[in-house]
Amino acid sequence: MGFISHMKEEFQVIRERDPAIKTPLEVLLYPSFRVMIQYRRAHKLYKKGHYFLARWISQRAARKTGIEIHPGAKIGKGLFIDHGSGVIIGETTIIGDNVTLYQGVTLGGTGKETGKRHPTLKDNVMVSAGAKILGSFTIGENSKIGAGSVVLEEVPPNCTVVGVPGRVVKKENKKVPRSDMDQVHLPDPTMDDIHYLQEENHRLRSEIQKMSYELQDMREREESCRRARELAEKQALAARKEQQKAE
Ligand SMILES: CC(C)(COP(=O)(O)OP(=O)(O)OC[C@H]1O[C@@H](n2cnc3c(N)ncnc32)[C@H](O)[C@@H]1OP(=O)(O)O)[C@@H](O)C(=O)NCCC(=O)NCCS
Repeated sequence: MGFISHMKEEFQVIRERDPAIKTPLEVLLYPSFRVMIQYRRAHKLYKKGHYFLARWISQRAARKTGIEIHPGAKIGKGLFIDHGSGVIIGETTIIGDNVTLYQGVTLGGTGKETGKRHPTLKDNVMVSAGAKILGSFTIGENSKIGAGSVVLEEVPPNCTVVGVPGRVVKKENKKVPRSDMDQVHLPDPTMDDIHYLQEENHRLRSEIQKMSYELQDMREREESCRRARELAEKQALAARKEQQKAE
């Protein structure tokens, strides 16, 4: 692709994703545009085995733009790196089409893997400012990584991931329950036990109170029976005395 058609294509890409651009000529000022031209050259040299020259071009571009793209990385069409400073793209990274990266993004390795050590970003992924994606897993199509997140594992397509470590908070535009996201209200087994014991204590106290009311009731009924019996006996005695007198 010629320089002018590349510039036109880049203008379209930037215009779609950065409302700040007003004229096609401004494309020349974007670090994203400048670094991608150098990356394409470096990547061609890398594929031919001219590793030193490829690295030389990429390091020079990194000094000028603040974006370090290893020449071994595989990048699709329409990558836009907004602002640019502090973006690192590792050697075995694979980036699909129409991906957007903001400043401070690292697509890096964990230091624990060999071979493919860096992430794969599928088409239309957006990685927000300062996010770190570390390891050789895949971020699915159309997924968004929130600013400042640290993503350490695979992300399915159409998800939003935020936090450290990154957790899926939205899938297919629907919120995912936050029960496993809450890092403030952590489970407290001691408080849980105390609440259980309080409830048990309350239940036992009401049982005892109920039994004591029943006991009191039984005692009162017994007392009134005893009184009634005594009265009946007294009345029977008096009646017998009356009868004896009459005889
Ligand atoms: C992640 C992001 C892209 C929003 O994606 P979204 O799918 O629209 O998600 P929502 O805004 O609905 O947020 C979903 C939840 O994640 C939370 N969230 C969003 N971004 C977050 C972040 N960076 N860190 C922590 N939590 C975040 C929201 O508060 C919300 O929580 P809730 O469910 O408790 O309300 C956006 O918040 C973001 O990080 N943008 C940064 C873009 C950027 O880098 N700009 C720099 C320009 S220079």
